[in-house]
Formats: sequence, C-alpha cells, structure tokens
Amino acid sequence: MPDKIITFDDDIAPMFKPYRSPMLKIGIATADGVFALDLTDYESVKFLNERITIALHGYEPGRESTNPMPPGGTPLAADKLQTWDDWVAGGMIKNNSPAV
Ligand code: HEM
Repeated sequence: MPDKIITFDDDIAPMFKPYRSPMLKIGIATADGVFALDLTDYESVKFLNERITIALHGYEPGRESTNPMPPGGTPLAADKLQTWDDWVAGGMIKNNSPAV
C-alpha cells in the first residue's frame, strides 16, 4: 500500500473549515497587495502557504511568531500540523482526480 496522498480537498480544506469565517474578515498585507485568506480555497491557501506555515508553528519554542494561528493560545494539534507540513512538502496537491 502506498502512503496516503494528502490533498487539499480531502485533508486541508476540512481541517481549516472551522477557522474560515474569522480569517475571511482579516486583510493580510503582502508585497502584491492586501488579501483575505480563504482557508477553504486552494489558490488562496497556496498563495499564502509560507505565512500559514509560520503562523501555525508560531507557538513552538524557537519558532515563535508575532501572530501565531489560531489565535488565543490554541495551537493546532500535532497531527494536524504534521498534515499541513506533509501537504506542503508533497507539493500542495489539490485532489486525487486523474488528469483529463
Ligand atoms: C488554522 C487556522 C488559521 C490560519 C491558518 C490562519 C492564518 C493566518 C495568517 C497566515 C495570518 C497572517 C499572519 C502574518 O503573516 O502576520 C493571520 C492573521 C490573523 N488571523 Fe488568522 N488564521 C487562522 C485562524 C484564525 C482565527 C480562528 C482567527 C480569529 C478568531 C484569526 C484571526 C486573525 C487575525 C486577527 C489576524 C491578524 C493579526 C494581526 O495582524 O494582528 N485567525 N492568520
């Protein structure tokens, strides 16, 4: 059995869905302008993936960030953080649909 492929549609979007609504209200300033981060939209998450990685790991000793996410002293569980890291390392695959 090959390892299960982590995809945005199956793994990342469901994991982020509870956080989508508050994050949509936030303007995130980037070199290309100010954007809302839609945590269930592939292109939005892919575009801001480096900022998301910093924010998600921002509670860890040695990796503290100004705005750790989710806010309020509640880091994602270790298995979810691992899922995120594996998805990024795997090339940020959207879904398992065969190419047409
Ligand atoms: C896993 C869930 C979440 C992710 C991945 C996420 C991601 C991010 C990212 C990448 C930024 C930009 C940080 C930076 O580069 O400075 C940010 C900012 C922010 N997020 Fe989230 N977020 C999440 C959940 C939440 C939730 C649940 C809330 C509110 C209840 C929230 C409120 C904010 C606020 C207020 C800012 C702006 C911080 C500031 O500039 O002072 N986020 N978030």
